[in-house]
Amino acid sequence: MSTYKKFTERMQKIADINNSAALLQWDQEVYMPPKSAGRRAQQLSTLAGLAHEMFTADETGKLLDELASANLSDDERANVAYTKEEYDKYKKVPKEFVEKTSAAVSRAFQSWNKAKQAKDFSLYEADLEALLELKLQECEYLGYEGHPYNAQLDIYEKNMTVDQLEVLFGQVKERLFPFIEKIYQAEQVSDALMHQSFDKDKQWDYGIEILKQIGYDLDAGRQDVSSHPFTTNFSATDVRVTTRIDAQNLSEMLWSTIHEGGHALYEQGLKDENYGLPSGSYLTLGMHESQSRLWENNVGRSLNFWQGNFARLQEVFPEQLSQHNATDFFKAMNKVQPSPIRTNADELTYHFHVLIRYEIEKELFEKKLKVADLKDKWNAMYKQYLGLDIKDDAEGILQDIHWSHGSFGYFPTYSIGSFYAAQFYAKAVQDIEGLEDDIRAKNPAKLLEWLQTNIHQHGRRYKADELCKRVTGEILNFDYFMRYVEDKYASIYDLSGVGV
Ligand code: CO
Repeated sequence: MSTYKKFTERMQKIADINNSAALLQWDQEVYMPPKSAGRRAQQLSTLAGLAHEMFTADETGKLLDELASANLSDDERANVAYTKEEYDKYKKVPKEFVEKTSAAVSRAFQSWNKAKQAKDFSLYEADLEALLELKLQECEYLGYEGHPYNAQLDIYEKNMTVDQLEVLFGQVKERLFPFIEKIYQAEQVSDALMHQSFDKDKQWDYGIEILKQIGYDLDAGRQDVSSHPFTTNFSATDVRVTTRIDAQNLSEMLWSTIHEGGHALYEQGLKDENYGLPSGSYLTLGMHESQSRLWENNVGRSLNFWQGNFARLQEVFPEQLSQHNATDFFKAMNKVQPSPIRTNADELTYHFHVLIRYEIEKELFEKKLKVADLKDKWNAMYKQYLGLDIKDDAEGILQDIHWSHGSFGYFPTYSIGSFYAAQFYAKAVQDIEGLEDDIRAKNPAKLLEWLQTNIHQHGRRYKADELCKRVTGEILNFDYFMRYVEDKYASIYDLSGVGV
């Protein structure tokens, strides 16, 4: 057997373990009876340990060393190089440290849960501080250039740096902030039509129709309900989504379904023959999010999409919607209004939620900000950027699960995803003749094909910057997002007389 084949088989076995764990995790979120929580945690930790051991084992290193001088194709060489980089990086982290961190995460997660219920940050403070200490140490093991936070960013968004984020979030402050201020001065739109009674079963069926319309393959996946919508996959041939349905608010189901559907299209678009290899895995979290947000925002929250789809939605909910038209619906779904909760935010104010978390995380890793001062900092920034007074810790500093999982550097990928989405979509409109007519005709198949060809099928073959340049001719550029926002919101709000 060739060394490359041995390497592929080893990588596939590691993927088998990780994907089995993912199936258990999916079950935990969707169907698992509550009494099983303890054993399930143990089962997941056993599988994670096995996969880590197998990946960082000397045998993996030996195969990679042999392959360094082997005669390989460009694609094979790229898989080996990517794996070698990850191997060298994670090999440096001692097993005892991994175990210590895993225990600290369990403690922080439990106290976060308690603190959130009690709306009291102080119950979580000590465990968060202990976890942060370990994450600071982790930066030293993993290594970084420049800012220590770069080591954390690299876990989710390979090669992303503080220097690049400073430019992006600088634009958010300089250009998006005054634009939102202008919207606040204009005549406001109503989203009351979203907040009526909508039968849950009918919502479910309609969501499935939309998933089929955007090209989600139900023979290679399924949808279920969970309290926090998510997408998971066990291969490109089994990609599952979940949604959340609120009988009093149609937005919940619609946007979570299309958003997760967009994530799922990416996973279904990876090449099954590359299973277990870097070329068969999503590129970065920002790239993943670009796919969900392109379908959710650029397609799903567009007037074109609803000019095609509103009549059918009226058929499903005649009582609630017969008095309205596609334009009313388009305006209601895009209402801009600050919310203390990130996951409820509109697509403009959303980026200030991310900006706040990014600035806080950066200062934590600079050791400029102490955990004890986090809450005051958080509340002050919500006042500064969103004009909000935070009423308690549950709707403030405790709202997100991420830090309790030890995930620092994750939030920026949400904004990066939106910015990529705008840039990709602008290029797709140029490349695909009649794309917006297709969307109005409820047939966006050419868009999916474009995304598969240009993005999905490559997996981790290129760096994110390289891929973006190959597709759009330049690296990530905030101008595209700003242009998209200015065009779209000028058709929702009358901005002609305000903010001069
Ligand atoms: Co997402």
